[in-house]
Amino acid sequence: MCGIVGYIGEGNAKEIVLRGLHRLEYRGYDSAGVGLYDGKYHVFKEKGRIDALEKTIALNKASLGIGHTRWATHGRVTKENAHPHASYDERFLVVHNGVIDNYKTLAERYLGGKARKSETDSEVFASLVASFAKDHPVDVAIREVLKLLEGSYAVLVVDKENPGTLYAAKHKSPLLIGKRNGGVVIGSDMMALVGAADNYLALEDETFVRITSDNFSLYDLEGDILPYRLQKIDIDAFESDKGEFPHYMLKEIHEQPAVLRRIITKYFDDSEVRIDQALLQKIKMCDRIHILAAGTSMHAGLVVKDMLETFALVPTEVHIASEFAHHPPLIAGNPFFILISQSGETADLRACLTDIKQEGHPSLTVTNVRTSTLAREADDYLEIHAGPEIAVASTKAYTAQIAVLTILAYALSEQSFDLKRELAEVAQAMEQFLDKQEKIRPLVKKYLTKPHAFYIGRGLDYAVCLEAALKLKEISYIHTEGFASGELKHGTIALIEENTPVIALISNAKTAAYTRSGINEVKSRGANTLVIACESFQEAEDAIVLDDVNPTFAPMLTVIPTQLIAYYAALERGNDIDKPRNLAKSVTVE
Ligand code: AGP
Repeated sequence: MCGIVGYIGEGNAKEIVLRGLHRLEYRGYDSAGVGLYDGKYHVFKEKGRIDALEKTIALNKASLGIGHTRWATHGRVTKENAHPHASYDERFLVVHNGVIDNYKTLAERYLGGKARKSETDSEVFASLVASFAKDHPVDVAIREVLKLLEGSYAVLVVDKENPGTLYAAKHKSPLLIGKRNGGVVIGSDMMALVGAADNYLALEDETFVRITSDNFSLYDLEGDILPYRLQKIDIDAFESDKGEFPHYMLKEIHEQPAVLRRIITKYFDDSEVRIDQALLQKIKMCDRIHILAAGTSMHAGLVVKDMLETFALVPTEVHIASEFAHHPPLIAGNPFFILISQSGETADLRACLTDIKQEGHPSLTVTNVRTSTLAREADDYLEIHAGPEIAVASTKAYTAQIAVLTILAYALSEQSFDLKRELAEVAQAMEQFLDKQEKIRPLVKKYLTKPHAFYIGRGLDYAVCLEAALKLKEISYIHTEGFASGELKHGTIALIEENTPVIALISNAKTAAYTRSGINEVKSRGANTLVIACESFQEAEDAIVLDDVNPTFAPMLTVIPTQLIAYYAALERGNDIDKPRNLAKSVTVE
């Protein structure tokens, strides 16, 4: 997913824009660029990392700046395709996050044979503005072009004939704007604003902004002024830095006990759950819950299905968002939709939410970003309070999503037990294990010696195996399958050969013996088996033993060693742990 940052004011725009781009690195990108004004305009852009770009920037200060990290959609990964893009007459500079679906039609209709330097839709946008600005004031020209666009955009525009003003606009791609005395900063998410603004506003769709160094004005696309109210920024700069950890992923794995305790304080008043009664009533009126999510969040949904059916006694289905969006099942009766998304910007989910709302069904987003699109577009949202999750591989968001939805399931139930204590025990068990994390690295060296691996388990352990496999795949690049241990013998066991790594999860009395037999089946065919078991079910040769917790809540604990296994496997392989190849933190294209 691309990232954009802009600044205008008394501060150093070069420093603020580059820091903002670094803060957005976790979203994934393949090239970067900045446009800066220090009395003259300068454009610097490079393929690869921001560090490479910084080496080319031959100026120290600027009063106006725009920056961009590009995740290639239209056009190859080249320096020419990196942003900022200039209009054909060089008057305008543009950075753009999103996809303009009709850019070719617009180019043919309005730009004729004007030469283009890149293959991008963004450059066409810049030239359209230049073309319209021949006959209109700049504000009007930009708005008229925006009205022609089909698709998504978060865009910043610099007019070289007016260095005291920065223009912005937003539709479907996220954009937040922030203020601090003498300066205005704008970016794709809160992380770009932290440290440069005290208050912020998440822009709504089809909003146009005119920014000067000490203020900004919002308009709709007809040019009518829009009121707005700023909110205080409550993420301190430290939360978004690694601290003493070598990687964000390891920091975020270790944050999980604290996040779980924070969730307890946020969602409980003494023993009473603090969730809006109107929301609970809405869900109680449904006869089926549909969970929509992608990737790790979908895996959290598989665990939460169990909680909702066990506590709230509501039949619950979990859907892969990209499948549901274009191949939905029969939706009957009174459904309620829960969308789980750490970023709140996943395009697959946004596609689903559009349809859900058109059908008039109620929706709830569970997310880590309350300013996100999915939080704002669903009927309700619940925050997971995990703090900024920077590593592309999601860890603390997974356990936080499960915790918050466990609390929701409990709040919907007629049962009464000390959930606060149960969750606190899980946090304690997480901490106990994390204190012994150094034992994981030698196990990874010993067991993960092949280019493939299996996780096996049953019930909730199987649900965690799916997440464990994704984690190992996405940062170590070892091809891993999460498998129902009882299903192996129906074919896939043919893949087991000498020293095939098979990691088993055992956290439940009902299935422990069956998973043990699964372990023996693969061991007798040469597999190298590593067992992760809760204390009550441990056997002598088990490599990792975890404290006992209520088996219903065990997934928040058993996932921890699997996250560390993935981390150390990637470390052994010298991979880029926080920014794995081919991946973006938030996938904003379908
Ligand atoms: C998980 O480690 C991945 N980064 C990915 O599967 C992610 O969970 C998925 O893209 C969904 O993102 P979201 O939670 O922000 O919607």
